[in-house]
Amino acid sequence: MRVLGIETSCDETGVALYDTKQGLLADALYSQVDIHAEYGGVVPELASRDHVRKTLPLIDQVLSEGGISRQEIDGVAYTAGPGLVGALMVGATLGRAIATGLGVPSLGVHHMEGHLLAPMLAVGWGERAPTYPFVALLVSGGHTQLVRVDGLGRYGMLGESLDDAAGEAFDKTAKMLGLPYPGGPHVAKLAEQGNPSRFDFPRPMVKQGGLDFSFSGLKTHTLTTVRACEVDGTLSDHDKADIARAFESAVVDTLVIKCRRALKQEGLTRLVMAGGVSANVRLRAVLEEKLAKDGSEVFYPALRLCTDNGAMIAYAGALRLAAGEVDGPDAEVRPRWPMTELAVPQPAAA
Ligand code: KG4
Ligand code: ZN
Repeated sequence: MRVLGIETSCDETGVALYDTKQGLLADALYSQVDIHAEYGGVVPELASRDHVRKTLPLIDQVLSEGGISRQEIDGVAYTAGPGLVGALMVGATLGRAIATGLGVPSLGVHHMEGHLLAPMLAVGWGERAPTYPFVALLVSGGHTQLVRVDGLGRYGMLGESLDDAAGEAFDKTAKMLGLPYPGGPHVAKLAEQGNPSRFDFPRPMVKQGGLDFSFSGLKTHTLTTVRACEVDGTLSDHDKADIARAFESAVVDTLVIKCRRALKQEGLTRLVMAGGVSANVRLRAVLEEKLAKDGSEVFYPALRLCTDNGAMIAYAGALRLAAGEVDGPDAEVRPRWPMTELAVPQPAAA
């Protein structure tokens, strides 16, 4: 089965073709970062308008790169939520229209399920795909969640952020340090030059038990430190790097502590990490090191599939479409959509 996947939930237009026998045939991505950078964050109206401009050309591009014609598409998957409502509607409307025109099924996919399954694509050389069951750490701009995964659609929420998501905390810290949007990669780069022992930022919610996260206190602590270091309203490059390092270490340690706790609690040894923040090199290194000591393994998607992309939507959609799941006539986008409401696909009655 060949599935066209369309991702338009936020500020990236992602389109891909996934074949259930041959794997990923093609994927293309257009990032709107430059459009939103001058506003310091995503402007929803601009995001929707740009998805309208970019989605069809990207579909032509993946068809040509994948070497298949429109008539060879067997199903269309699009991100139905969570995300920005107008942006989601662009992908949903186009996806459903294309499917109707071709006479093939369409399916709305959950964005975080896409992230969660992305490591299974194992597209890179030597990459291994995890097997069920595992614990997933989903860390993106909008979500920080620990999920027990027993199979497709069989998700149990173990813990989540009570306030800011980890990616959001990175983005806000970047703003405080005068770095461009999206801030995660910039904070990470700056942190490389930072002195790891100058500041000791709090590791939120690690002392009490449980698997929930909270990053808003850390954000306040970062702001207080920025204010204390400022001279005439400006920070030296040294101070910026040291603060970035202290902030990153606090987030990384917190995430790693909770991941180990979740694995122990669930009696599992496989951790899957996905979402934009899983591109963070220090997080990967520390997780690998600590989990190896516990006899556990960590899996993550290829770097280009950590942040939003069409491949993960084509893949998640292909698994569900192949299991017989299709959009109902009243399918809608869902800007808010708890992952635990996802169903285990039930093959349609013959
Ligand atoms: O999954 P994603 O592409 O979009 C959402 O669904 O939110 O994640 C984007 C988030 C942003 O907050 C971005 O700053 C963060 O991922 N991010 C990083 C890194 N690369 C992206 N955070 C820390 N370190 C990175 N290397
Ligand atoms: Zn995402």
